[in-house]
Amino acid sequence: MSIKIDFLGHATFMLTSGEHRVLIDPFLTGNPKASTTADQLDPTAICITHGHADHMADAASIAKRTGATVYSAFEICEYLGEQGIENLEPGNPGGSIAAPFGHVSFTPAVHSSSFEGRYMGMPMGVVVELIGKRIYHLGDTGLFGDLKLIGDLHQPHAAIIPVGDRFTMGPAHAKVAAEMIGAPVAIPCHYGTWPLLVSDISAFTPDGIEVEALQPGASLTLE
Ligand code: NI
Ligand code: MN
Repeated sequence: MSIKIDFLGHATFMLTSGEHRVLIDPFLTGNPKASTTADQLDPTAICITHGHADHMADAASIAKRTGATVYSAFEICEYLGEQGIENLEPGNPGGSIAAPFGHVSFTPAVHSSSFEGRYMGMPMGVVVELIGKRIYHLGDTGLFGDLKLIGDLHQPHAAIIPVGDRFTMGPAHAKVAAEMIGAPVAIPCHYGTWPLLVSDISAFTPDGIEVEALQPGASLTLE
């Protein structure tokens, strides 16, 4: 069964297969590159990699409106519970959770995680296994050696990789990351959203890997 990967701007993605719609890192409100608005989205599940506003600004409102199950760090789920969200699946790096569509696995990420001054647990990446296909969204991270191990363990069909520099890898490090992970398709994100992030990602040229630089609003289908 195919998976449609919609890029909604910055680091926000929707993965769709059949009746399953998995939203990753919802940031539409205040996102200068957003291709849609939060109230247009109707996910069945939401994954949040870490607590920064550019990854979870719209999580609570979308979860409340849709009843979508949220998969995220223990501390983020604790926060969302206080906001009245009921369908929560908390985890931590290294853990995997069975889902109606497959699995959600949390991976390490080298970054920080806070929201409105509150500690939000460990930053993570997420491997979403959706109807047999695995999409690895790295979250925000610098380059680290265990990306090779994560690639070997999860064998992702596509990797979504931050390339904007300053807060994450830049394009040159992201090239190394994509090669270490080894997924046949790499989708760059987290660049050009604001002047602080680089816009020129011409150095992101991983060997032997198809780069799909989606524009916000564009999508890619994995057969
Ligand atoms: Ni961040
Ligand atoms: Mn970020």
